[in-house]
Amino acid sequence: MEVEIAEYSGYCFGVKRALKLARKALSENVPGMKKIYTLGSIIHNPGVVKELSDKGLISVRDIKDIEDGSIFVVRSHGMSPAIIDALEKKDVKIIDATCPFVKKAQSRARILSKKGFHVVVIGDKDHPEVCGIREQVDSLDISVVSGEDDLEGLEGKKKIGIVVQTTQTMEKLKHLSCRLLESTAELYIANTICDTTRNRQDSVRKLSERVDVMLVVGGKNSANTTHLADISREKNPNTFHIESSSDIKIEWLKNTRKIGISGGASTPEKDILEIKGMIEGIKS
Ligand code: F3S
Repeated sequence: MEVEIAEYSGYCFGVKRALKLARKALSENVPGMKKIYTLGSIIHNPGVVKELSDKGLISVRDIKDIEDGSIFVVRSHGMSPAIIDALEKKDVKIIDATCPFVKKAQSRARILSKKGFHVVVIGDKDHPEVCGIREQVDSLDISVVSGEDDLEGLEGKKKIGIVVQTTQTMEKLKHLSCRLLESTAELYIANTICDTTRNRQDSVRKLSERVDVMLVVGGKNSANTTHLADISREKNPNTFHIESSSDIKIEWLKNTRKIGISGGASTPEKDILEIKGMIEGIKS
C-alpha cells in the first residue's frame, strides 16, 4: 500500500503567522503579568488550541470577558472594526494576526461600497472571516450569499460588487457570479480566494483522482478543510474528513493500493506525518 501526501497541504502562511505572533506574545509575557486572549479558537485545530491554552492563551466567546489592560490576539480570520474599537477603549493591547489575504478582502469590500456597488460576500454566513468583512461596510450596503437561496432580494440591485471568503471554492464563485450576472446591469468580481487555498484545492482534486481512498485531515469546524473534503469527494467517493489518526477505521483501508492524504490550512504537518506513518505501519 502506497501513501501519498498532497503537494500543497497543512499549515498555510496566514495560520503560521498567527501562531508565531501568539507564541511570541505568550513567551514575552512575564507569567501572570497580563492575560492574553483570543475571541474564539486561535485556529480550527483542537490539538493546537489545547497546546496554546496550556501556555496561557485564553479563548473567550464575548469581549465582556476580556480584562481591561490585557493583551488580545486578532486571529487570522480578522475582526470587525467595532470590536477593535471596544477593546481599545478597555486599554487592551491589540496584536493583529489578521491574514493579509483577509485584509485584502476587507479592503475590497470597503472600496466597492465607496464606489456605489452593493457588496455581495460569497461565503459561510456565520464564519468569523465573513462577519469581519461584513462589518467593514454599512449593513444596508452588503449581503452575504452562501447559496442560491440567498440571491432572492438582490434582483433589483443595479451595481453589484462581489468579494469572496478566502477559503471558498472557484466552482461556487463561478456559479453564483453567473447567477448574479443574469439579474444586474453591472457586476464587478474581486476574486479574493487566497492563493494558498487555490493551490490546496487544485492539489487535492488531482490527488483524489489517483488514489483509492482519500483522507482529509483537519478540524470539523474548519471551513477550508471541509471544502477540501467536498472537492475530494466529488472526484472520489471514498473520501473521509478526519481530525486525527484515531478517527481512521481499518475497514476504510481494506483492499486499497493507494491512499492520499491532504491537510487543511490549520493542520500541523506532524499530524499528517503521524497518519502516514500509522497507515504504513498497518501494512508492515
Ligand atoms: Fe490566509 Fe489563506 Fe491561510 S486567507 S489564513 S493564507 S487560508
